[in-house]
Amino acid sequence: MSYREKYRPQVLDDVVGNTETIERLKVIAKDGNCPHIIISGMPGIGKTTSIHCLAHQLLGDAYKEGVLELNASDERGIDVVRNKIKSFAQKKVTLPPGRHKIIILDEADSMTPGAQQALRRTMEIFSNTTRFALACNMSNKIIEPIQSRCAILRYAKLRDAEVLKRLLEICEMEKVEHNDDGLAALIFTSEGDMRQAINNLQSTHSGFGFVSAEHVFKVCDQPHPIVVQAMIRACMKGNIDGAMEKLNELWNQGYSAVDIVVTIFRVVKTFDEMPEYTKLEYIKEIGWTHMRILEGVGTVIQLGGLMARLCKMNLKPELFRI
Ligand SMILES: Nc1ncnc2c1ncn2[C@@H]1O[C@H](COP(=O)(O)OP(=O)(O)O)[C@@H](O)[C@H]1O
Ligand SMILES: [Mg+2]
Repeated sequence: MSYREKYRPQVLDDVVGNTETIERLKVIAKDGNCPHIIISGMPGIGKTTSIHCLAHQLLGDAYKEGVLELNASDERGIDVVRNKIKSFAQKKVTLPPGRHKIIILDEADSMTPGAQQALRRTMEIFSNTTRFALACNMSNKIIEPIQSRCAILRYAKLRDAEVLKRLLEICEMEKVEHNDDGLAALIFTSEGDMRQAINNLQSTHSGFGFVSAEHVFKVCDQPHPIVVQAMIRACMKGNIDGAMEKLNELWNQGYSAVDIVVTIFRVVKTFDEMPEYTKLEYIKEIGWTHMRILEGVGTVIQLGGLMARLCKMNLKPELFRI
């Protein structure tokens, strides 16, 4: 069984991060006064999990009968919304007093506007017996009339410390051997996405036995930020040979131009050896290179050009006089 499924929180108390928002859900779970809700936010931060926890806490043993779940992989066109939801909403179910049936629509932003219009009418008609819980990445892809009927809860990306806490718990329970750099690498590569962090932990563990930074970056197939840091340090000294050497090292390992430029960006963004002004100038140049690569020029020459510009910024103008 995947760690991700095994360690999926069963109650709201176990969902990490987004404390204030989850407190609101806990209050709803406790007094049962559940509005229609939309939870929005990036992937892998606990949206679907929270909705399941909420529904379980509200309905208890009646969960099975009282919940209809429709995923993006299911057919969710207009007819399905009309028929499936309608017949569920009309079904008689015995629930704890004061509770409502719950319809979960995961990844609701992938529904067509037409299906959303049908959904909106169904919400109006059955709102005395049924509550809707929607999860989505972008709440602005949900049509306005649905948004205005829902309490909108926005989940932020998880903080490093929050991901770390969960990873440590899982390492402990699964007896995963690791070092601190290994966990830091999992956090760096997953960018606040807990699902990815947990999956990568498991892949590294089963692939290598030991969770070290080197193993994690192999599993994730991302350029090692240590190499990129060395590259940036060389640029800051105006040392083009040093920078090109590191660039070629990554290029020869087979990373694409996009992989490399994205890692450069992420390293520079959090590089504390660099004055703020230089950081801004660097990010601007990295942005231009990223754009050219996305336009189709993903060559090592473009990346070399970036190295040259980053080096030049740190050279004194006097040195350019002939
Ligand atoms: N906030 C969180 N706290 C604990 N585990 C989490 C959290 N977010 C995600 N996970 C883990 O990642 C998996 C996927 O989470 P999920 O709720 O499906 O994310 P989302 O719906 O936001 O994409 C869960 O099974 C769980 O193991
Ligand atoms: Mg989800």
